[in-house]
Amino acid sequence: MEAIMQIGFLGGTGVEGKGLSLRFAASGAEVILGSRSAEKAQAKAAEYNQILGKPVIRGMTNEAMLSAADMVFITLPFTEAGPAISGLGARIRPGTVLVDVTVPTRFADGRVEYLEQPDGSNAEAIAKHVPPGVELVGAFKTIPAHVLADLDVVLDCDVLICGVSKAAREKVMDAARIIPGLRPVDAGPLSTARVLERMTIFAIQLNRRYKVKGARFRIVGL
Ligand SMILES: NC(=O)c1ccc[n+]([C@@H]2O[C@H](COP(=O)([O-])OP(=O)(O)OC[C@H]3O[C@@H](n4cnc5c(N)ncnc54)[C@H](OP(=O)(O)O)[C@@H]3O)[C@@H](O)[C@H]2O)c1
Repeated sequence: MEAIMQIGFLGGTGVEGKGLSLRFAASGAEVILGSRSAEKAQAKAAEYNQILGKPVIRGMTNEAMLSAADMVFITLPFTEAGPAISGLGARIRPGTVLVDVTVPTRFADGRVEYLEQPDGSNAEAIAKHVPPGVELVGAFKTIPAHVLADLDVVLDCDVLICGVSKAAREKVMDAARIIPGLRPVDAGPLSTARVLERMTIFAIQLNRRYKVKGARFRIVGL
């Protein structure tokens, strides 16, 4: 990354927001947790700064975060992401890169399955709500949140990044490069999210079959 980037999280107070914010903050980025409640975001930021031993994460409302961040990760429940982007549309500054990490997952009868989407993927469903001048990229869908949150774990995996705009994909690849042990891979158009979201379900299935918790992907031959 050229300069220290402000990385924001829409709904950054959950487990995915924790994992990503800790990894980025530990790697030198400035991080802003967004929430519907400024107090909740500030409390989470204080908790994560304690883990990091340095005050590099701030907490504020989702709206305030959007006016400060250069790149915004959508770390909301998958059902809420599209409506939230619609509702906050006018607050998202042109030039912002939105990074969708959502995976439409259903747990039923002890099994995990992909919840089929009419648009092909949740990323493509969210894209319908993105305002003009803002780019949407799908990334980090296949890396478990708890693995990200445990800073003692060497990631040693790929982050697969898809989106309409190559320039936006490259911005997210540059951001990912600051995290040790993570190799960004350009996965092409946004429709690749159909593959990536299903890969996440596959990883969860592998976790269960092999009785492990951190299955993730590394592509060889690149
Ligand atoms: N867990 C994993 O390993 C993993 C891996 C890859 C991708 N993901 C994806 O990461 C995303 C986030 O997962 P998570 O487990 O962190 O989610 P979560 O804890 O259920 O929710 C994250 C945050 O979203 C906000 N939120 C919840 N309901 C909302 C609503 N109705 N409207 C607006 N904001 C709402 C809440 O923040 P406030 O109350 O502070 O506003 C909450 O803390 C999911 O889409 C998931 O598919 C997860």
